[in-house]
Amino acid sequence: MRFVITAGPTREPIDPVRYLTNRSSGKMGYALAAAAVAHGHQVLLVSGPTQIDIPDGVDFLPVETAQEMFDAVRLQCAGKDVAILCAAVADYRPAIQSPQKIKKAQERMTLELERTQDILGSMRSVFGFSGVLVGFAAETQEVESNARQKLQSKGCDLIVANDVSRADIGFDASENEVLLVYEGHTFLLPKAEKLAVAHHIIQAVIDLV
Ligand code: CTP
Repeated sequence: MRFVITAGPTREPIDPVRYLTNRSSGKMGYALAAAAVAHGHQVLLVSGPTQIDIPDGVDFLPVETAQEMFDAVRLQCAGKDVAILCAAVADYRPAIQSPQKIKKAQERMTLELERTQDILGSMRSVFGFSGVLVGFAAETQEVESNARQKLQSKGCDLIVANDVSRADIGFDASENEVLLVYEGHTFLLPKAEKLAVAHHIIQAVIDLV
């Protein structure tokens, strides 16, 4: 089967030398890409900036901003059987990107932000994607109910939910413990190395197909 997987953070420029980003390392998305290839699938990995080596056998499309990731996924999701959107996409970007380095002036400054486009939320309604759709949910409270809400509002077949308030798993950690949230039930994948968790997620996706 053909997979498109997003991974990593995005970078939203403030001026030529500064940007807004988040703590995503990209490890979970890269582990998913490696696991899907190991299962014999064809994988396109659309990734924000990370420090990780590209897994062998993966087609790689690097992007920086949420808008670039949106445009890449819009173009590349056509003809794919499975989309797994694992990237930690910025929800807001600076409303104005200064062409020159911003010089310091007053003691305080206010940065105005505007919403970015929701890639996962556009897959069904805007891109017309009809394959298996898997989203991630990064939550700090009420993990399962928030994830189930995302499952329904974004038309996903499965949401992989992380509790990002825990330091031992999730963002930037090498291990993860996730809930697989389906329409009618929830399944806990106990704490393990991200590659092991990724193999279980890929198996869950294949079972959905
Ligand atoms: N996502 C996306 N495009 C965005 C923001 C998020 O595709 N602009 C995707 C992520 O890749 C993830 C899912 O949406 O698969 C959920 O991300 P999350 O940050 O948990 O949720 P949000 O939809 O941003 O909602 P909120 O911030 O209100 O929790």
